[in-house]
Amino acid sequence: MPFKLATDGQAWALITGATSGIGAQYARELAARGFHLLLHGRREAKLRVLAEQLRTGHGIQTEVLLADLATEAGISRVEQAAAGLSGLRILVNNAGYGEPGLFHERSLQSLTDMQRVHNDAVVRITRAGIGHMVTAGQGAVINIASIAAYLPGRGNVMYYATKAFLNAFSRSLATDLEGTGVVVQSLCPGFTHTEFHDPGRRAHFDKSTTPRWLWMEVEEVVRISLARLGHGKVIVIPGLVNRIFAWIGGHEWLYRFIMKRVRRK
Ligand SMILES: NC(=O)c1ccc[n+]([C@@H]2O[C@H](COP(=O)([O-])OP(=O)(O)OC[C@H]3O[C@@H](n4cnc5c(N)ncnc54)[C@H](OP(=O)(O)O)[C@@H]3O)[C@@H](O)[C@H]2O)c1
Repeated sequence: MPFKLATDGQAWALITGATSGIGAQYARELAARGFHLLLHGRREAKLRVLAEQLRTGHGIQTEVLLADLATEAGISRVEQAAAGLSGLRILVNNAGYGEPGLFHERSLQSLTDMQRVHNDAVVRITRAGIGHMVTAGQGAVINIASIAAYLPGRGNVMYYATKAFLNAFSRSLATDLEGTGVVVQSLCPGFTHTEFHDPGRRAHFDKSTTPRWLWMEVEEVVRISLARLGHGKVIVIPGLVNRIFAWIGGHEWLYRFIMKRVRRK
């Protein structure tokens, strides 16, 4: 049975990191298509406002799930919620953050925390919820990676490495799920206007130092993701500029050649 995004009024979507940015935009898009929403995050007040807006605006059911995915207890809470949600048809593994700093200067704890949020949580929540989709013969897992998956990342090693894992995980998972009606996507956005780089966030930087043409809006990123879901390609890179970056990053000699010249300027 080919994957269809339309719901019969019984289907649920679980979105991790739905409080803001890309996750919140998936929530708005999926609510508009009639999915009930289990919205995960940590900032309770903001998450509840979004849940209430979408519930009243679209006549859907919404629930809020608070958990820090850098902790065992947090992952376990979301895992249990996914396992108990028999109507689960779309899982968006989106929660994530950046944290600049040289690998050898960062604490081991901070490095492995990122691995938990970006990788361990994704594997465990997916494993907990996927059975419902396979049984129903329909569903989608969307993992939010990054074009960082294609690049060597000085000063943010674990971010680049954990995002690369998501691409590899998604491609192989898609092959395991062939013929089940469950599709997988690994979305690789480039610079996107969200709260990710805001002041006070760990990945904060001055956006005016990067050209405007590098940036995309969440609406466009999520629209592209949902439009390409189930159309054969697991890895989706929104935006031509991002696809070029990913292509260059896939050719180590070319990437080094370009970066040497950029750094000399
Ligand atoms: N923005 C970009 O330029 C960009 C580019 C490529 C990929 N991405 C990826 O896109 C995804 C979404 O990020 P965004 O840009 O939309 O940023 P955002 O607006 O900062 O949203 C990040 C979300 O992740 C949640 N989160 C972060 N750490 C968490 C933790 N330890 N436990 C639970 N939840 C956690 C946040 O929850 P709370 O706020 O409630 O704590 C928030 O809902 C991330 O995986 C990011 O790596 C972003």
